[in-house]
Amino acid sequence: MAIDLLLGLQWGDEGKGKIVDVLSKKYDIIARFQGGPNAGHTLEFEGIKHVLHTIPSGIFHPKAINLVGNGVVIDPVIFKLELDNLAPFNININEVLLVSRKAHLILPTHCLLDAASELAKGKAKIGSTLKGIGPTYMDKTGRNGIRIGDIELSNWKEKYTALRDKHLTMIKNMNVSLEFSMEDLEAAFFEAITYLKSAVAFVDSEEYLRVAQQNEQHILAEGAQGSLLDIDFGTYPFVTSSNTTAAGACTGLGIAPNRIGEVFGIFKAYTTRVGSGPFPTELLDEVGETMGRVGHEFGATTGRSRRCGWLDLVALKYAVEINGVTQLMMMKGDVLSGFDELKVCTAYAYRGEIIQHLPYSLNTDEVTPQYTTIRGWKEDLTAMRSENELPDTFNEYVAFIEDFVQTPIRIVSVGPDRTQTIFRSE
Ligand code: GDP
Ligand code: IMO
Ligand code: MG
Repeated sequence: MAIDLLLGLQWGDEGKGKIVDVLSKKYDIIARFQGGPNAGHTLEFEGIKHVLHTIPSGIFHPKAINLVGNGVVIDPVIFKLELDNLAPFNININEVLLVSRKAHLILPTHCLLDAASELAKGKAKIGSTLKGIGPTYMDKTGRNGIRIGDIELSNWKEKYTALRDKHLTMIKNMNVSLEFSMEDLEAAFFEAITYLKSAVAFVDSEEYLRVAQQNEQHILAEGAQGSLLDIDFGTYPFVTSSNTTAAGACTGLGIAPNRIGEVFGIFKAYTTRVGSGPFPTELLDEVGETMGRVGHEFGATTGRSRRCGWLDLVALKYAVEINGVTQLMMMKGDVLSGFDELKVCTAYAYRGEIIQHLPYSLNTDEVTPQYTTIRGWKEDLTAMRSENELPDTFNEYVAFIEDFVQTPIRIVSVGPDRTQTIFRSE
């Protein structure tokens, strides 16, 4: 049985959590494959809003197994908080949530290193969520990391202490002013580790998924962040530290490329970005301000305002191609209601040429977006539930995108709630 992937195609926050929740009833297993608590995936149903950071977005499905794969980095303190937030919902966590033994642990000193690194960069800072993501992946690739499987071993605290001390020396040498109490941080860290050991099952996840595939189970891999934050293909260095693109699902779960079925690519009808880095179609005017206000564009993890701008089809096409997207999902069309005209970027002026691909640099002083103007729609979409209710002008916008990226849009989302999801016929 093929494994389907669901990925963000922009700079994150496309609405992955909502769509995974909507699709989860079709799957037996939902598996996160990269990132960590830098992610904030929002789900809304029955009047309640849930934000998940590490736990896969299938957790509210009554039967699905939710697996945190080897490619994910885990902060036990945040993981415990997420579990605490789920307590009122009577979910049998011990049975439906599994964690890979090969997933790496975020130590308190990884978060301190993240903060120290951003302070040292000054104005050139990445705008990291400060969840320790970069330093943890650095220790993973540097072969110094501590994994979930290690905490089952009796001597793991020695390994912990050695790594902590190394980090503390590094922080000292960075010469930045950082106040913290190691004692308080460690108290919370070890309490959370003890809790996780009792509350969650640790597994050899690649073997678990191999058997699941043999038994014809339906598996959905849930991405975090988005393609433009990918460590290789994003707007480096303003990216995250993992491969957010389709290939990341293979390494982050141990699944073979020829086992991948559908690749669902999610994008917003406009563009947002949180943190620093280039953003050619960013709008620093009233239009961008309106998108942010109507779309409630505040980070689900950090609460920071998200930068907003027009849809960038050059970047979207790049993401579709790099991931091999087979079906698109367009989110937040409702937010664009009321604009007379909408613009979409269909080319860039770059170093004296007009180009239609993503160049080496997306820096705003080198790239000027070239826009095509499309009619907007006035209708409020949020109460619509079927495709024949959607206004013609909205359908024209959708058709323009499909034509440009040569990929069908199968879902349009018209609000944050589970029910505000319209499946389009083929
Ligand atoms: P994720 O990180 O990709 O899961 O996305 P986030 O949860 O960080 O951000 C998406 C935000 O948009 C959340 O607040 C969602 O509740 C909200 N949302 C998702 N789909 C829609 C939609 O179609 N319309 C509106 N207005 N909000 C949406
Ligand atoms: P979800 O899964 C949006 C951004 C940060 C920063 C850069 C590096 O909710 O879509 P990091 O903490 O990884 O070192 O930050 O990446 N970033 C996200 N932006 N959505 C996310 O996740 C993000 N995860 C990281 O803002 O610019
Ligand atoms: Mg998010």
